[in-house]
Amino acid sequence: MKHEFVPAACNSRLDHVGSYRRRLPVSLDRMYENALDWEHLPHLHSSSFGSIDCVSAGGWGWQATVSSGSGDDEIVSELELRLDRDARRWITRNLSGPNAGAEIWTHVFVVADRVLDIVVDFFVPNVPAEAREKVGRAYAKAYEVLYDEDVDMMTGRQNQLDLRLDGVDESEVLKLSPQTQGSLPVSVTMSGRRFVVDRLEGEGSKDNEWVVYPAQCPHQLGPLDETPMQEGTVRCPWHGYVFDVRTGECVSGSHCRLGRVPRVLESEEGVELRWL
Ligand code: FES
Ligand SMILES: [Fe+2]
Repeated sequence: MKHEFVPAACNSRLDHVGSYRRRLPVSLDRMYENALDWEHLPHLHSSSFGSIDCVSAGGWGWQATVSSGSGDDEIVSELELRLDRDARRWITRNLSGPNAGAEIWTHVFVVADRVLDIVVDFFVPNVPAEAREKVGRAYAKAYEVLYDEDVDMMTGRQNQLDLRLDGVDESEVLKLSPQTQGSLPVSVTMSGRRFVVDRLEGEGSKDNEWVVYPAQCPHQLGPLDETPMQEGTVRCPWHGYVFDVRTGECVSGSHCRLGRVPRVLESEEGVELRWL
């Protein structure tokens, strides 16, 4: 991957300490969506961000207060991300905090419909010349981790969007074999949609009550089958929305809710899922 240009240095008055380049198997839409998605930072990137408090957001970008670390080591910064679609780039600025004044410029190059090259340039004020390379390497390493995490999210969402979800076949019946019943939770597919089947135990639930919930989050199709159900709720790993698997309601304050699911019926013939 080689791009003959000097991306950010032409406009930034700060010192350039390093770059990070990567080819990504995603479309421009998924990439922009990801850049604008402030909400996923403390969930998908929990090793880098502790919390985020959005000040304002829109198609232009976002501004937010973020924290990392905890206790005496907690660091709070204000970040701003501005997306410039015409220039195919976004600039993230540290408005306050330990790296106040730092700018990260990300340029995108479309290689094919779902292949992008990104070039990320790091500009940090007040770094002595002899320390720039080291600081640049640290930024590049941090970005590598962030993109490792982001690429799964972007490709996972694209895969879900590509799936044609036709109407439900109301007559479809799915039998759960004894082996399947013995290895809960399980993912099953009915009418082209994936669901998680499990049993609820403990306080507040009927005796070993069956539950079925969609494997995709109603927010942005995140994988609800990648986190374990806890006390009748499931937390989406992408933005942290929490859903009550019995009622389908989002109990973490969002307006979305889980979609329609098949019901589990037990009879002498066995256990099966049906649309009721
Ligand atoms: S995809 Fe955003 S919370 Fe699930
Ligand atoms: Fe991200």
